[in-house]
Amino acid sequence: MTLASRSLVTIDDLSNGEIEALFSLTDEMSGSMKEQFGLCRGKVMASLFFEPSTRTRLSFETAMHRLGGSVISAVDTKATSLAKGESLADMARVVGSYADIIVIRHPWEGAAKVVADYAGVPVINAGDGGHQHPTQTLCDLYTIKKERQTIKGLKIALWGDLKYGRTVHSLIFALAKLEANILFCPTPGLEVPEHVIKKLTTEYGGELEKYEASAQTSEKGLSSLDAIYITPGSPHQLAMMPNVSIQVELKRGVDALYVTRPQKERFATAEEGQEVEERYSTVDKKLLKEKEFKRTLIMHPLPRVDELACELDADPRSMYFKQAALGVPIRMALISLLLGVKEISIPHEDSSPRTDYPLYKRGFGVKCPNPRCVSVQESEVKYIKPEFKIVNSKPLTLRCVYCEHGFEPKYVASSEWHEGTLAEKKYHSAQSHWARKIKPENLIIFDSESEAEAHGFKPSHYTPEHR
Ligand code: NCD
Repeated sequence: MTLASRSLVTIDDLSNGEIEALFSLTDEMSGSMKEQFGLCRGKVMASLFFEPSTRTRLSFETAMHRLGGSVISAVDTKATSLAKGESLADMARVVGSYADIIVIRHPWEGAAKVVADYAGVPVINAGDGGHQHPTQTLCDLYTIKKERQTIKGLKIALWGDLKYGRTVHSLIFALAKLEANILFCPTPGLEVPEHVIKKLTTEYGGELEKYEASAQTSEKGLSSLDAIYITPGSPHQLAMMPNVSIQVELKRGVDALYVTRPQKERFATAEEGQEVEERYSTVDKKLLKEKEFKRTLIMHPLPRVDELACELDADPRSMYFKQAALGVPIRMALISLLLGVKEISIPHEDSSPRTDYPLYKRGFGVKCPNPRCVSVQESEVKYIKPEFKIVNSKPLTLRCVYCEHGFEPKYVASSEWHEGTLAEKKYHSAQSHWARKIKPENLIIFDSESEAEAHGFKPSHYTPEHR
């Protein structure tokens, strides 16, 4: 099977079977690095890093050099025509006409999807704002798999900034797909965003148990544990666990502790940064003396700041430098597959999470509420039409196709009525029973009453403010 011409924008772009096959190819390539030289001879990779990067950029570039290909790069929007007001789409079209594959890191959430939509060549997301970082997730999973032989049924604790950490967001969905249990241990104030939790619980089949942080755990150890995702896939002790016995279950051991730094560059205000800094705790030797960490893999996507003590570097449980080193063979395997110079056989086909939701796409009406979304940042350029998956009708819930933020819009109307089947153009509360009668293809969704009225609609009885 070939992955040629495909892009990797979110971790959902790869099925479990494809991830496994990619790991087999990585095994093969890391055992014979020198023999891979020449595989990508004559191919060009564009490396576009519009946010700071050491590991991701240099490991991608090393990977392409080791495959015998060439690299062109841009590292700062100020040095490109984006600074002159060029749209991402135009840049993507142009770079796609020079290079055979594009790797992009960008501060806007959904930017990699826009580039993939317009480039005409495979695009790899090397981090789009706080959204996702799928190749870091491949490095994380590959490291765990090498150490534990499987991901299924493991207990993986995520620690630190779970709100803005893009590596955490892609890792959550990957772990859920691969049927691991996830322990959420956020620094207070940096909990996993609600839209990530919603997607996790509605699409991956497991259950989420919430805890009052500290209430169920020892004062030390995983004291900030606030929720556990229990996979449906393994007949694991956790699944039968009443809340009270969590202490006991945790003492049986956590398989990996994934530590992250505070993503200061994404904090809304300087105050948020200051407050968080005070609450951020450090993973050190003392903490790792707790029984639950006896055999735990200590992981970190790096760079670290103060949240992971250097005294752990020589500890055999520490995996973070290994994670970074594995970035080269993983990315060599990925580039070769997307360029079609290698093929893979998929060990088994699996059921992927649901993606066939009806789409909502109009040139007016509702916009993505996430200010960091590419569809908001580039709305001036007009070529990005806001587009949403209708992931639920009761209550009406939309998910932006670019940044994946989910939200419940307030007002709706129908294009059938609008187009004259009914005499009057009325809009309704999105939560009214009328709203649910509108077929997805006829839905018109508004952010506000004033917007509905600006488009010639009047409030109906089903707009509560007008009852
Ligand atoms: C991560 C990133 O850029 O999201 N770094 C990386 O790519 N290894 C994590 C981070 O910056 O904290």
